Amino acid sequence: MTKRLDLFPLSTKIQNDRLFVANCDLTQLAERFGTPLYLYDRLTLDSAAKEYRSALDKFYPAASSVTYAGKAFLCKAIVRWALTHDFALDCTGAGEIAIAAVAGAKKENILVHGVNKSDEDLQSAFQFASVVVVDNLDELRRIRELIAENIPDLWLRFLPGVSVSTHHAYTQTGHHESKFGMTDDEILAAATFCRENNLPLKGIHFHQGSNFRDAKPLLPAIDSALDLAQKINFREEWHFCPGGGWGAAYHEDEAPHPRIEDYVRGIAAAVVAGCARRNLPLPRLRLEPGRSLVARSGVALYRVGAVKRRGEKVWALIDGGMADNPRFALYGAKYSCLTVSSPNQERDERVSFAGPYCESGDILIEDLPMPNIQRGDLIAVPVSGAYQLSMASNYNGARRPAAIWLDDGNAVEILRRESASDLLDRD
Ligand code: LLP
Repeated sequence: MTKRLDLFPLSTKIQNDRLFVANCDLTQLAERFGTPLYLYDRLTLDSAAKEYRSALDKFYPAASSVTYAGKAFLCKAIVRWALTHDFALDCTGAGEIAIAAVAGAKKENILVHGVNKSDEDLQSAFQFASVVVVDNLDELRRIRELIAENIPDLWLRFLPGVSVSTHHAYTQTGHHESKFGMTDDEILAAATFCRENNLPLKGIHFHQGSNFRDAKPLLPAIDSALDLAQKINFREEWHFCPGGGWGAAYHEDEAPHPRIEDYVRGIAAAVVAGCARRNLPLPRLRLEPGRSLVARSGVALYRVGAVKRRGEKVWALIDGGMADNPRFALYGAKYSCLTVSSPNQERDERVSFAGPYCESGDILIEDLPMPNIQRGDLIAVPVSGAYQLSMASNYNGARRPAAIWLDDGNAVEILRRESASDLLDRD
């Protein structure tokens, strides 16, 4: 349904029969920085950021802003990039807060999530963040006990009990049995607790899941959240956040990358109509995207070390896999790829790409139509910008790959490759 090349970053081109991103030759980048290697295309990042901003300006009549969900991919460079777009940073716990703060995010730019925040997470949130999204009543009681001064704004995380259709059950968070957030009754109890204890309750939040293309299930969730907002009786400036979750296309069998504008338009219309019906003042609308901002900008480069033929099965063994991208192993996620040289060759064979780790599930791609693959070939995997490096591990002593920022002919290393001494540093 989609052309394979169209999954790649916006600046991708084929020149002299080779793949280029941001006017950088991927063959040369692999030689210069080694593989596996993660590339981030600035143009694609900026374009997604502008799409969010302009859609909010177009469809939402009151104040609005974007919070980048750092769990998709976080390092100092991406924090600085988010700040250039006036985005806030959603940080899960003290580790992500530290990255954001060191990179220059101010208190007003940091919002803290987490389903079971430790005391350290909360203390660091009090020091560095302006918003804490409270997941449960126990956490709220702990906040009251721990906090002395500098109380951040509190938003309550609501569990709407409505699921969205995502690529896997593990990426759904809004259904009844989910471990995330609070039920209607718990939200109302939390609001009473805030009032009685003079805690600054300023908003309501929910997040139904990640990588959906159909935003319709958001509508009943928005309605239920607005019902609660009415009962809580938000009057002055208040914040409403329907989370993130907008998807990306990973494979040519899927429809093209879904449009950010369609997502924002639906949410904005539902919030405006829902508030009018309830006579609620329009909230500051906060969106919290991760994947739809960064996934498409990322490309992962791997080198083929060996090819094995087992009857119909062709295994191309590459130098990365589940340690830098566990998404196939976790969710059976479907990826595609192109050879970096001669990307347009006839694809007359089905090839599976597996990594070097000691697990049969260490697969990146299964049975993808490809040209004849040889040892030494480089492959480029598109849509690698989200939830890959951020979920990477040191399994089998893997050293996590470098990440390179590509900006119109310039390639800058933003994360260096780990070495064995990094592994030993904490041992
Ligand atoms: N807000 C909250 C509270 C979240 O938990 C998440 C993602 C987001 C926003 C951003 O969602 P996004 O726009 O990126 O879909 N590891 C999985 C995805 C897990 C998502 C976790 N929460 C994957 O690789 O598909």
